[in-house]
Amino acid sequence: MPGSRPDNIRDAYQTIRDQEPWTHPNSSISHHRILPFSTLAPWLDDKEFIKIYEKVKLNTLVDIYRCYELWYLAKQLTNVQGSILEVGVWRGGTGAILAKAAKANGKKVFLADTFEGVVKAGSMDTSYIGGEHADTSETMVKDLMESLLIPNYSVLTGIFPEETSHLVETPIAMLHCDVDVYSSAKDVVEWCLPHLTVGGIIVFDDYGFLGCEGITVFCQELQKRQDLVFIHNINGHAIFIKVAVI
Ligand SMILES: C[S@@+](CC[C@H](N)C(=O)[O-])C[C@H]1O[C@@H](n2cnc3c(N)ncnc32)[C@H](O)[C@@H]1O
Repeated sequence: MPGSRPDNIRDAYQTIRDQEPWTHPNSSISHHRILPFSTLAPWLDDKEFIKIYEKVKLNTLVDIYRCYELWYLAKQLTNVQGSILEVGVWRGGTGAILAKAAKANGKKVFLADTFEGVVKAGSMDTSYIGGEHADTSETMVKDLMESLLIPNYSVLTGIFPEETSHLVETPIAMLHCDVDVYSSAKDVVEWCLPHLTVGGIIVFDDYGFLGCEGITVFCQELQKRQDLVFIHNINGHAIFIKVAVI
């Protein structure tokens, strides 16, 4: 029998439940405010995570729930062969979390960004037009890594995969795809899948967010594949685990 909750979750839930769902004006995909009943918060007890998160939180657009998921997934990859690749680095926040987690299991992290903002926005995308998130630089990311004494990373500057994929050490154990738009994500994943180790994972940052419907649609397409298992985490992540070679 569960203990009593110290908050008014049921009232909050009822208020949210009674709200109408909504869609982006350019899409028919439904959105609704999500409020799980669960309260377990393991990130608060993970001192190593909290220490790095506090140092990078101003360098990331990603909330603590997704940051903790990236941290914990990267920590679990000891027996999955390969590097970690992040495409979509911006100011380096999630990249630093991945690299710090991966240091313990001897993995290298490749951090790929144009540093000139989002590319390949198109008709599948509802909000992005291209050039967003250009307010960063390679130097900003390298300075962050240096300040955190993180050595196990390489920055790849340019459009991925066309301009920088030849610099990635394969196989890949984990891809963090945070590129915001359909065509970019498709090109990144099509390059990555043949290099992804069985047991390896792909995390899409943008799956569950209004304005990122291009990524939601691309993930719906990937869900049809027989070599991937799909998990929708209601923090907004889509996670795919490679389970077979086809
Ligand atoms: C939302 S930001 C990444 C956020 C970051 N992970 C964080 O911790 O806040 C998206 C980034 O993807 C980059 N980007 C999008 N498509 C790309 C591509 N094909 N190759 C390289 N960078 C890309 C953009 O330049 C932008 O910096």
